[in-house]
Amino acid sequence: ASTLAAAAQQSGRYFGTAVAANKLGDSTYTGILNREFDMVTAENEMKMDATEPNQGQFSFGNGDRIVNQARGQGKRVRGHALAWHSQQPGWMQNMGGSSLRSAMLNHVTQVASYYKGKIYAWDVVNEAFADGSSGGRRDSNLQRTGNDWIEAAFRAARSADPNAKLCYNDYNTDNWSHAKTQGVYNMVRDFKSRGVPIDCVGFQAHFNSGNPVPSNYHTTLGNFAALGVDVQITELDIEGSGSSQAQQYQGVVQACLSVARCTGITVWGIRDSDSWRASGTPLLFDGSGNKKAAYTSVLNVLNSG
Ligand code: G3I
Repeated sequence: ASTLAAAAQQSGRYFGTAVAANKLGDSTYTGILNREFDMVTAENEMKMDATEPNQGQFSFGNGDRIVNQARGQGKRVRGHALAWHSQQPGWMQNMGGSSLRSAMLNHVTQVASYYKGKIYAWDVVNEAFADGSSGGRRDSNLQRTGNDWIEAAFRAARSADPNAKLCYNDYNTDNWSHAKTQGVYNMVRDFKSRGVPIDCVGFQAHFNSGNPVPSNYHTTLGNFAALGVDVQITELDIEGSGSSQAQQYQGVVQACLSVARCTGITVWGIRDSDSWRASGTPLLFDGSGNKKAAYTSVLNVLNSG
């Protein structure tokens, strides 16, 4: 196959990208988007600050632009993200206790209900675990409402859109030996054993020299999948260039292909110039939209799998 999406489809997987609504008028951008990808994530437009700028007042214009463009082209959508400690609207940032808990649950319910039937998978909760060696939860206003805030969010999302897959999404959870990975694993195992509705785990996969692609990535993905959830690479980017970068991309794709329940891969942007990283060249297309060595290695490994 000659595109990322078609190559991934050969093994029943998808290949997606993050999309920014304000770039949909850029024909180079949209040309690559329409040609290469079959799954779309809104980079910012479906987050809490974007969708509920004032409490109880919802705003779906930019999210809709992305969802409609994607679905109009026959692509699916990953929803990102219903509950997160970051990118909260101002009114939510200083809330706490039971009023924050009910505001969060109302947000989950309203947003998931609005997009009901249009979302393949929701990142219900994003980045709730702490970095470092504790393996525990990150401190946040949401965490301080009680340790059960995550499962409450998943139950609300399931009620609102019973057919969407519900994911927990985080970063630095790629290396099996890291405490954070173990912390998330233990939560998912607990959720599965108690019947909390969780269907998938997202691995953001933002890699650089300080945080390289781990050699045990397939072990991590396989161990999570063995808990009875799908796994997905949700925000892939890898700092670097040339054949070294290409090799690391190949390793990530291979790790996914080696796990039956790894259902797809999403890169966090199209061209290097679209990346959230202020400098650097972490994506598959250069600033002019040309395919990089990393693109070719990803396409080849998808075609071989
Ligand atoms: O929209 C405003 C614009 O009006 C204003 O003029 C401009 C000036 O700073 O800011 C614009 O908002 C920025 C927004 O991106 C859109 O470009 C925010 O400041 C900036 O903070 C925001 O960054 C996003 C970041 O999440 C925020 O946490 C990045 O685009 C986005 O790529 C990044 O994505 C996250 C995932 O959601 C979760 N995982 C990590 C990943 C990378 O950080």
